[in-house]
Amino acid sequence: MKILVTGGAGFIGANFIHYILEKYPEDKVINLDALTYAGNLDNLKDVENNPNYEFVHGDITDKKLVNNLVKNVDVVVHFAAESHVDRSIEDSDAFVKTNVNGTLNLLEACKSAGWRNGTSPAGEKRFHHISTDEVYGSLKKDEPAFNEKTAYDPRSPYSASKASSDHLVRSYFHTHKLPITISNCSNNYGPYQFPEKLIPLFVTNLIEGKKIPIYGTGENIRDWLHVKDHCIAIDKIVRDGRIGETYCIGGNAEKTNLEITHKILKLMNADENSIKYVEDRKGHDKRYAINFSKIKNELDWEPSISFEEGIKETVEWYKNNQDWWKRIKNGEYRK
Ligand SMILES: NC(=O)c1ccc[n+]([C@@H]2O[C@H](COP(=O)([O-])OP(=O)(O)OC[C@H]3O[C@@H](n4cnc5c(N)ncnc54)[C@H](O)[C@@H]3O)[C@@H](O)[C@H]2O)c1
Repeated sequence: MKILVTGGAGFIGANFIHYILEKYPEDKVINLDALTYAGNLDNLKDVENNPNYEFVHGDITDKKLVNNLVKNVDVVVHFAAESHVDRSIEDSDAFVKTNVNGTLNLLEACKSAGWRNGTSPAGEKRFHHISTDEVYGSLKKDEPAFNEKTAYDPRSPYSASKASSDHLVRSYFHTHKLPITISNCSNNYGPYQFPEKLIPLFVTNLIEGKKIPIYGTGENIRDWLHVKDHCIAIDKIVRDGRIGETYCIGGNAEKTNLEITHKILKLMNADENSIKYVEDRKGHDKRYAINFSKIKNELDWEPSISFEEGIKETVEWYKNNQDWWKRIKNGEYRK
């Protein structure tokens, strides 16, 4: 299988490329990435000389480039996005440009290349779109978890841009018979996550002896999934998921931000004095939770790494890879 991965120099994309190259030595991966502040080729240093891996520095909004790349692959796995909610609150432009226009450009390229559901053998051509549980809005404490039928209710510019892209992907299936699948996943954690996101920010701040900032009272709830389990789920969908379908992916690990904080503090032998409570994020969603029974029943996927095990291993990774995140935090990598 020849796969075009967009955004492969980012957190989940890089983990996915590692996973595919290791599991399928016969597969070829092309990584198209614009190397924004979040893209980092250090994430892929160990595969850069692999003959089955190719890096293309470019933007998913570049029509000519994307048209040429799509012609030569079987599958697109589309991760590239502006992904940080706080940045979308400060400035939404890049979110619309990449998440909406960039996705549309990729869909158009697949359409122009003649990708049609039903005319190509099952599994031969597929556009798989990576999305988030945030498109479903915010849950109250006792409301049932999101599933594939939950109505969209995005509430941040980030989630609104991801929701728009999901709708476009689905519309290309219905209108143009494009062979697509979509997955909406909960919060990921693990190696190579940019240290602006909660878990790597807290772990690296503690190593540096800095305070860890908690929004509001820290009672917001998120569901957490180890990035490797997300990669396994995506791989199953790409190979066996039904065309036109959406799959919700979750970790069965709902935690308040305070619970996560206490867990990290304990693992790092630090205490409450390291916490700094800061003004809450604007429009901060209360709770996300995922019902993943569809992917469990259809594709036999469920999380394999418990939160306890995953967070321990993740803290160790950031302790053992200080050069990686210090270059980013010191601004040595780029910008
Ligand atoms: N991180 C999570 O917890 C999570 C959860 C669910 C879904 N997602 C989705 O997964 C995907 C990947 O998330 P991530 O956390 O790895 O993001 P990330 O910010 O770590 O990486 C994004 C990558 O996309 C690249 N990129 C950005 N704009 C581009 C453009 N115009 N053209 C080409 N490349 C571009 C960046 O350089 C970077 O390498 C996103 O679509 C995100 O919405 C993330």
